[in-house]
Amino acid sequence: MSLIEIADYRLAFDGFEGRVQVLDGIDLAIEAGEAVGIVGETGCGKSVLARSMLRLNPAPPARIVSGQIRYDGADILAMPPDRLRDLRGGTIGMVFQDPVTYLNPVFTIGRQMAEVLRAHEPDLSRAQRRARSIELLDAVRLPDPAGLLDRYPHELSGGMRQRVLIAEALAGNPRVLIADEPTTALDVTIQRQILALIADLVERLGLTLVLISHDLGVIGAVCRRIVVMYAGTVVEDAPAESLFRAPQHPYTRGLLAAMPDLGRPDHMPEGIAGSIPDLRSPPKGCRFHPRCPLATAICSERKPVLDGGPHAVACHAVAAAA
Ligand SMILES: Nc1ncnc2c1ncn2[C@@H]1O[C@H](COP(=O)(O)OP(=O)(O)OP(=O)(O)O)[C@@H](O)[C@H]1O
Ligand SMILES: [Mg+2]
Repeated sequence: MSLIEIADYRLAFDGFEGRVQVLDGIDLAIEAGEAVGIVGETGCGKSVLARSMLRLNPAPPARIVSGQIRYDGADILAMPPDRLRDLRGGTIGMVFQDPVTYLNPVFTIGRQMAEVLRAHEPDLSRAQRRARSIELLDAVRLPDPAGLLDRYPHELSGGMRQRVLIAEALAGNPRVLIADEPTTALDVTIQRQILALIADLVERLGLTLVLISHDLGVIGAVCRRIVVMYAGTVVEDAPAESLFRAPQHPYTRGLLAAMPDLGRPDHMPEGIAGSIPDLRSPPKGCRFHPRCPLATAICSERKPVLDGGPHAVACHAVAAAA
């Protein structure tokens, strides 16, 4: 049994403009101790999938069309509220995309840490909460953690704010850390430091990591397994080394070709022609087929299955060539 098991998971949003079919049959199993990266273009459903692991997509408008999500064997989609609360921020810590909205500008860091701790460990005394806050801020390598408790979010740099949010995600002693674009708003140097911190925490605390980014470089720096999403589907799922050495799916190949090659500054990234589909009326069959250089008739008719682990790929052309 895997620690997290997602099977044939479909989720849609019902809106004024019709139904948006965001996740279309996600299959994903994550083992304890793995560091898994989820990569894909903007709007492909990475954050919706991450929130699904904690049942955090508000329903309505979200509607689960099919499938299952299990944590340690327990069905998250059928979990009673108290167990769900233990999971959220407890067993599974989450660092949300867009750190600014998750720190309240009018409260000190100390007050916000205390509030998070109160939710997890209501019995702690004030002094214990303070000590634990300092310990957590220290764990994310923030200098002068005690002094930091009296500061406001705007007094901190972007990198420091992100560290505070990681500290908050660790407050419930999680087994799993889900980090959604934890470095996107940061400059390259700070980005590296945050990634190094995450890798270090995963190692030290024995965490299972789900790292989400649109940047394969970010994912590749930390994760040993990479899941490539396209328009709400998993198109490739492989060990990182294998994915970088021999990408299979035409979309993954395009993503890799779009990465700047530092060894060859004269090499222009190619990118992928076209743009992501409107998920109100997604393409039939393989959702990538309108942009795919290898597409044949079957691709617009039948959805390809994710096949061939440990390096799994969902592509009719790849399957036909094998
Ligand atoms: N609450 C919501 N109501 C309606 N549609 C939503 C809602 N949340 C997300 N969506 C839609 O779901 C799709 C996937 O969004 P999601 O935020 O998961 O993308 P993403 O891969 O995380 O993108 P990014 O890289 O920009 O963060 C988008 O089309 C988005 O508009
Ligand atoms: Mg997102």
